[in-house]
Amino acid sequence: MTDRIGPLRLALEDVKTALVRDPAARSALVIALSYQGVHAVWHHRIAHWLWTHGLRTYGRLWSQYARRRTGIEIHPGATLGRRLFIDHGMGVVIGETAVVGNDVLLFHGVTLGGTTMSPGKRHPTVGDRVVVGAGAKVLGPVHIGCDARIGANAVVVKDVPDGATAVGIPAKIREHPSEREAGTAASSIDAGDSHIHPDPDAAPGYVEQREPAMYYI
Ligand SMILES: CC(C)(COP(=O)(O)OP(=O)(O)OC[C@H]1O[C@@H](n2cnc3c(N)ncnc32)[C@H](O)[C@@H]1OP(=O)(O)O)[C@@H](O)C(=O)NCCC(=O)NCCS
Repeated sequence: MTDRIGPLRLALEDVKTALVRDPAARSALVIALSYQGVHAVWHHRIAHWLWTHGLRTYGRLWSQYARRRTGIEIHPGATLGRRLFIDHGMGVVIGETAVVGNDVLLFHGVTLGGTTMSPGKRHPTVGDRVVVGAGAKVLGPVHIGCDARIGANAVVVKDVPDGATAVGIPAKIREHPSEREAGTAASSIDAGDSHIHPDPDAAPGYVEQREPAMYYI
């Protein structure tokens, strides 16, 4: 999943990703020196290399060392895509057979975990550009479609389609406001366009573009 890009370029890409995705981020240097979520991804690259090159004991030891340093436990066998950003990070657990796509955002307390003791594929597969809210648990070999959003503290035990938002315990796909209140003013603003806010003082037809709401701190 790393498309033959050198480790230094990958590391710079990780720092840039954090700079873009964390509105509280001020400097690349501070990110490189202090962001545990970024460090956890760097440690994982080493642990994963050891794991996939026949040095499983060392891979496992490295990941446990990383866990002590960062508060984030990523099994060395897990497959992570590029530009994964783990914001805040503490308490994140990613299981051995989990697969995470590109440009994924995980908040603290997220578990990509298993529900069975049997070996084999038992952890989630997460598509590109997925956002998993703080404290959410995604359990079993479920598939989270590209661009999906998992609400904070959700417990996901079934597949989530591309672009869907899943919330609650057990997580359910959130009904789209436009399906619920078709034709109302409220639905036209939130109909998948919650990032588009009309400015009452602007010229007719003007809309301000903003990031989709995810409630960052
Ligand atoms: C799920 C989420 C992406 C939805 O965002 P959204 O599309 O802007 O949704 P809204 O805030 O308009 O809420 C829509 C509905 O879902 C409900 N909802 C939103 N988030 C929820 C959650 N995590 N759990 C349960 N219900 C939730 C709202 O109460 C609302 O219900 P209603 O339609 O019955 O009134 C967002 O609420 C979320 O959980 N983001 C995670 C952010 C996070 O973890 N931040 C950590 C920063 S440190």
